[in-house]
Amino acid sequence: MKQTVICPGSFDPVTLGHVDIISRASKMFDHVIVAVMVNLSKTPCFSIDERINLLKQATKGLENIEIVGFDGLLAEYAREKKATAVVKGLRAVSDFEYEFQMSLTNKKLNPELETIFLTTSAENMYLSSSIVKQVASLGGDITNFVPECIREEIENRLSSK
Ligand code: PNS
Repeated sequence: MKQTVICPGSFDPVTLGHVDIISRASKMFDHVIVAVMVNLSKTPCFSIDERINLLKQATKGLENIEIVGFDGLLAEYAREKKATAVVKGLRAVSDFEYEFQMSLTNKKLNPELETIFLTTSAENMYLSSSIVKQVASLGGDITNFVPECIREEIENRLSSK
């Protein structure tokens, strides 16, 4: 059976850490839906359309992925798409508590849904979208943080902030 999984996130904006997790998931599963979703505890800087557009450029060349925006519950979206699992990256112990809570909540809402954690690559341990936003808004170099094909677009967008 074809295995569909979902890589959900805010992706505000996508980083090299996200691309690493998405590309590793794309090697493990038949179909990966990268879902740009709403995190009610964050105020996004980029619109959903901007985030989708950046993700499309950043993941060009990965054949079996699909980028979508969705503003509902992840557990319901996974049911609708017949996804077997959610795939998320784990950077450090500090991520774990929150991710564990999300995973258990999703399992309660959709008992069929598993959550798979991929440990982040060592070079991306410190990386987050917030770091990218802070550094770029203050005119710093984000070369090591985001794919080169979207670096300038992110810099231009944030340098005026
Ligand atoms: O990149 P993030 O901000 O850590 O991703 C979190 C995200 C967007 C995956 C999470 O907030 C989410 O699943 N949002 C969709 C709404 C939902 O299902 N919330 C979980 C139940 S409270």
